[in-house]
Amino acid sequence: TKELSDDVNDYLYKVLVVGDLATGKTSMIKRYVHGIFSRQYKATIGVDFALKVMNVNEKTIVRLQLWDIAGQERYGNMTRVYYKEAAGAFVVFDVTRPETFEGVKKWKQDIDSKVFLPNKKPIPVVLLANKVDLKPDGWGQTTQQMDEFCKEHRFCGWFPTSAKENLNIGTAAKFLVNQILNEN
Ligand code: GTP
Ligand code: MG
Repeated sequence: TKELSDDVNDYLYKVLVVGDLATGKTSMIKRYVHGIFSRQYKATIGVDFALKVMNVNEKTIVRLQLWDIAGQERYGNMTRVYYKEAAGAFVVFDVTRPETFEGVKKWKQDIDSKVFLPNKKPIPVVLLANKVDLKPDGWGQTTQQMDEFCKEHRFCGWFPTSAKENLNIGTAAKFLVNQILNEN
């Protein structure tokens, strides 16, 4: 076995997970961190935390501190506190409820007005179109429309996801971490 060497870089990043009520934020985190899924809905109150350790490569370890922020916090006044010192974010919507796609813009504006990188740039934000397992024949936005939407609203990328089927969650996390590492 390889000896632990001190030339391993170990990073800790705070990542926000936001989006309207019941879009699947907690489910995605549970899937990604614990490998489980439940059909039962229990609304998050305030904020929950989870830690995921990623071995990016032989020389890079990233600890992701995931801040699972309740959808109902959009109507609260705590987000500025929760967003403090975040390095990146996911904004989640539910492809079966178009109103949650509208909510995406508000969450993005909220993030962009309240949190910045040390160099004053906006933090990288990835858009997640969740519950695609429930809409196997499409959900109203084409790939091209989603790409346009991301350009217009300055998301660095988007992924169709399913917490139920474990689709693209790890891929999206790797993508965001690469964006974060590029900024630091
Ligand atoms: P708040 O904490 O209230 O903001 O909600 P949330 O965004 O954390 O949603 P949560 O993860 O609690 O999921 C809400 C409901 O959607 C639950 O009943 C989940 O089982 C269901 N759900 C979440 N993700 C998926 C998915 O990918 N597919 C399907 N079919 N159901 C999902
Ligand atoms: Mg939740």
